[in-house]
Amino acid sequence: MKFHILTLFPDMVLQGLSTSIIGRAAEKKLIEINAVNIRDYTLDKHGKVDDYPYGGGAGMLMQAQPVFDAHKAVTEGRKVRTIYLTPQGQTFHQKMAMDFAQEKELVFLCGHYEGIDERVLEEVVTDSVSIGDFVLTGGELPAMVMIDAIARLVPGVLNNDVSAETESFHNDLLEYPQFSRPEEWHGKKVPAVLLSGNHRAITDWRLERSRERTKERRPDLYQRYLQKEQTIKRLSRKKRNHIHLMESLSRGKGEILYSEGENVLIYDRFCKICMLTAECREIGEKLLDSIPQETEFLVISQECMVPVVCERLGFRICDECYLACYTGKEALPVRYKDIRILEMDSLSYVMEHYRESKEYIRKHILAKALYGAYVDDTLVGFAGLHEDGSTGFLYVEEKYRRKGIGESLEAYCINRQREKGYTPYGYVVKDNEASIKLQERMGLYLSQSTIWWLGKK
Ligand code: ADE
Repeated sequence: MKFHILTLFPDMVLQGLSTSIIGRAAEKKLIEINAVNIRDYTLDKHGKVDDYPYGGGAGMLMQAQPVFDAHKAVTEGRKVRTIYLTPQGQTFHQKMAMDFAQEKELVFLCGHYEGIDERVLEEVVTDSVSIGDFVLTGGELPAMVMIDAIARLVPGVLNNDVSAETESFHNDLLEYPQFSRPEEWHGKKVPAVLLSGNHRAITDWRLERSRERTKERRPDLYQRYLQKEQTIKRLSRKKRNHIHLMESLSRGKGEILYSEGENVLIYDRFCKICMLTAECREIGEKLLDSIPQETEFLVISQECMVPVVCERLGFRICDECYLACYTGKEALPVRYKDIRILEMDSLSYVMEHYRESKEYIRKHILAKALYGAYVDDTLVGFAGLHEDGSTGFLYVEEKYRRKGIGESLEAYCINRQREKGYTPYGYVVKDNEASIKLQERMGLYLSQSTIWWLGKK
């Protein structure tokens, strides 16, 4: 991902972003920081970039021409989201960071003095963002704050796949307290449960501490969390049919756009997937107006909604699927042992055998979400976790089938999910009898009815 920063102080930005995790990510070329000096683009022979505001008033204003030309030089005719850092913008938050992290490149425009001529802002800015209700001397620090928050969501920037998922704000809950060595310090002991080795008990303890902390420190977030919990509880009456909705909420990915009785509309802005379940067509139709424009996939639980969605919103049917979920108390046996996390050198192998784009597969390898089965050190199949949280990607080479490798790969994925406290689930295409049989044999429950995946035309 490429970050262009238009600024009068490129050194400040480069220095701030050249150390620690973000610096290493740039070295590894996972991100690129391109700091551009706006002054290099002024046509004024004295290098001037500012002037007095018409109508009078305090201070100087950055002029339109150098900003416009610097922006033009950087974007070269491409449409790039351009963020203007200003206290008048929308307040930055984690979901915004997730949204920006989807882009291939971003431009940050840093103002100085009393601001920038309005006319150039109208022409180049797509998003105005503030980092809080206070006024700084320039947009450089806010740009650095935003770049840090966005870059760490880029797959591979953080070394582990878990931390970006579990920390503060990802589930409308603040993070639980953490402890490191020594076991006792200033007479204070580390809570015993954390030394127990019991993963379930630790997960439960952490969730409870997160709840307490959020209720006390951020009652606003806590209200949102409670609404989510109530929706999950209602959906759980038909868990097998609603597991995708429930897991999207409980993993902190989905936002509730509507929730009343059996009518629920959820948007996963990270994956641009909208999920809808409705009691009847009339109610479902009313909810269609709330589906975000950027939605790329719709997951619909009622067949009667499918034609109207396709017609009104311009979607096409991709698949009719059953949901399969694993609710067992025990981890599943993984009989085939040589399963490893895939590295980037397996990218072309996965691309050859799986119908997804290079970018999609690359992202999942970087996120350590794909696992390969090896025979004599040779990759013969894989499975993994999709961005929306469902397990899938299952493939085993023809001559290695019927040896339990596929089952082991799926069990491996399921166990990893369980360890994180999630309910593992996946989608099985309705006509794929072999896969349906496999799910049943492994002890997964299938939904009573099918659901429809629709994609934007
Ligand atoms: N520029 C000056 N103050 C700012 C703030 N709070 N957020 C974003 N940009 C700014």
